Amino acid sequence: MERTFVMVKPDGVQRGLIGEAVRRIERKGLKIVAMKMMKIEKELAENHYAEHKEKPFFSALVSYITSGPVVAMVVEGRNAVKVVRTLVGATNPAEANPGTIRGDFGLDVGRNIIHASDSIESAEREINLFFTSSEIVEYDRSIDGWIYEDI
Ligand code: RTP
Ligand code: MG
Repeated sequence: MERTFVMVKPDGVQRGLIGEAVRRIERKGLKIVAMKMMKIEKELAENHYAEHKEKPFFSALVSYITSGPVVAMVVEGRNAVKVVRTLVGATNPAEANPGTIRGDFGLDVGRNIIHASDSIESAEREINLFFTSSEIVEYDRSIDGWIYEDI
């Protein structure tokens, strides 16, 4: 099973969209194996978004992501990275398809509600940045045979 890192950003929390994001992840059949609310320190924000450090929007991005509490999650499932990116939608909510989280709830690229890892390597890096191994919970779900054909 693959794992990905998902985070409801400060605007998502302020707008009461934690439940909406969690609902969409759960009803897809994905399994949440870690979850916490936290305020991100500047250093962690800069590290998390290090790939964008030369971009003109970097300092605005760091301010945005540290501007209020976020809800960080580890989500597990087959092809979890790609599947969650599809649920989340395109980076710019104005262009994201209806039916995606960003497409249904956002208008501005600087207020795009939710983060999801873009590759298996990023997922591993981001999970390790935000969670210790003891915060990740391994458990079975008896329903999995109704979600996956071969389980
Ligand atoms: P994220 O990492 O937050 O899940 O978003 P993403 O992969 O869809 O997009 P990415 O290219 O990684 O950009 C990271 C975040 O930076 C902000 N952004 N602003 N003003 C701009 O042109 C611009 N471009 C990106 C967004 O908050 C984006 O989610
Ligand atoms: Mg990204």
